Amino acid sequence: MDIFEEINVKGFVEEDIDPTLDLFVEIEKLKKQKNAVILAHYYQDGDIQDIADYIGDSLGLSQQAAKTDADIIVFAGVHFMAETAKILSPGKKVLLPDVKAGCSLADSCPPHLFRKFKEQYPDHLVITYVNCTAELKALSDIVCTSSNAVQIVESLPKDQKIIFGPDKNLGAWVAKKTGRDLVLWNGACMVHEIFSREKITRLKERHPGVKLLAHPECEEVILEMSDYIGSTTGILKYATNSPDKEFIVATESGILHQMQKDNPDKTFIPAPPNNNCACNDCPHMKRNTLEKLYLCLKNELPEVTVSEHIIKDAVKPIERMLEISANLGL
Ligand code: 13P
Ligand code: SF4
Repeated sequence: MDIFEEINVKGFVEEDIDPTLDLFVEIEKLKKQKNAVILAHYYQDGDIQDIADYIGDSLGLSQQAAKTDADIIVFAGVHFMAETAKILSPGKKVLLPDVKAGCSLADSCPPHLFRKFKEQYPDHLVITYVNCTAELKALSDIVCTSSNAVQIVESLPKDQKIIFGPDKNLGAWVAKKTGRDLVLWNGACMVHEIFSREKITRLKERHPGVKLLAHPECEEVILEMSDYIGSTTGILKYATNSPDKEFIVATESGILHQMQKDNPDKTFIPAPPNNNCACNDCPHMKRNTLEKLYLCLKNELPEVTVSEHIIKDAVKPIERMLEISANLGL
């Protein structure tokens, strides 16, 4: 058992928290005392989203991590997101409420195998989706997120050969949108590959006029029947600005909290998965709880660190993404 595992498993356990404490009040106090900021992804529990200083998609969260003047960043998300924050703000302490909050997509692309894959295409530029390890980012030329992947590919000359990894679904969607022939790594997200085309079709029949909103990590069969495809922020904005009242949402269920909060008069139906489970939860994102968030801020552990030599190579492709995005007003 490593040190972080020990801290999560044996050290500061949720059961030790005084049950009379109002964790919302305590977290606010700690945040002020320590000059900390809480950045949360839309897939976090509603309570965490409600106490966060900033909620957003991966691009928005990276932009916040790069510009914050807080001393401590509590990243309510998964490991690769906290790593990205550390790479962008190496002088700050970056905390992750549960250090085991990983990502099946990041796991689907081990850096030593990707290095070999990359060697087969020496004249290709490497674009990696931000959902990957810091080591993988260090092997890349440009990082992208779901909200800027199309624009980043389009910003490159038409004859530029490109490897895109690790998400094959996002990569195939970008290839289709841009008309580019991308070499794809065969990775995927366990949450976004679970939706059932048949069940969504039946649901659409029962709800005439309902709009299907999907994340580009979904499989092509789902994307081709969607009315809108975009990042979590894109999905939220689309639903808010749309005159329609009913939506099927094909992404992780955490986004529904903000969609419902911003649009109390609209109905959001989670897209049905191809199994008997009624939820589309990411088991990694959902490892974080309000209790763990309180404990990590109080004890300043678990901390996410990235070695200096990885930061040196990984920061360039992330900064390149932020630069391109800023130039495009994203
Ligand atoms: P975005 O919030 O950038 O759309 O990313 C979705 C995701 O899978 C994060 O893990
Ligand atoms: Fe990774 Fe998928 Fe969970 Fe996002 S939803 S953190 S891509 S496993």
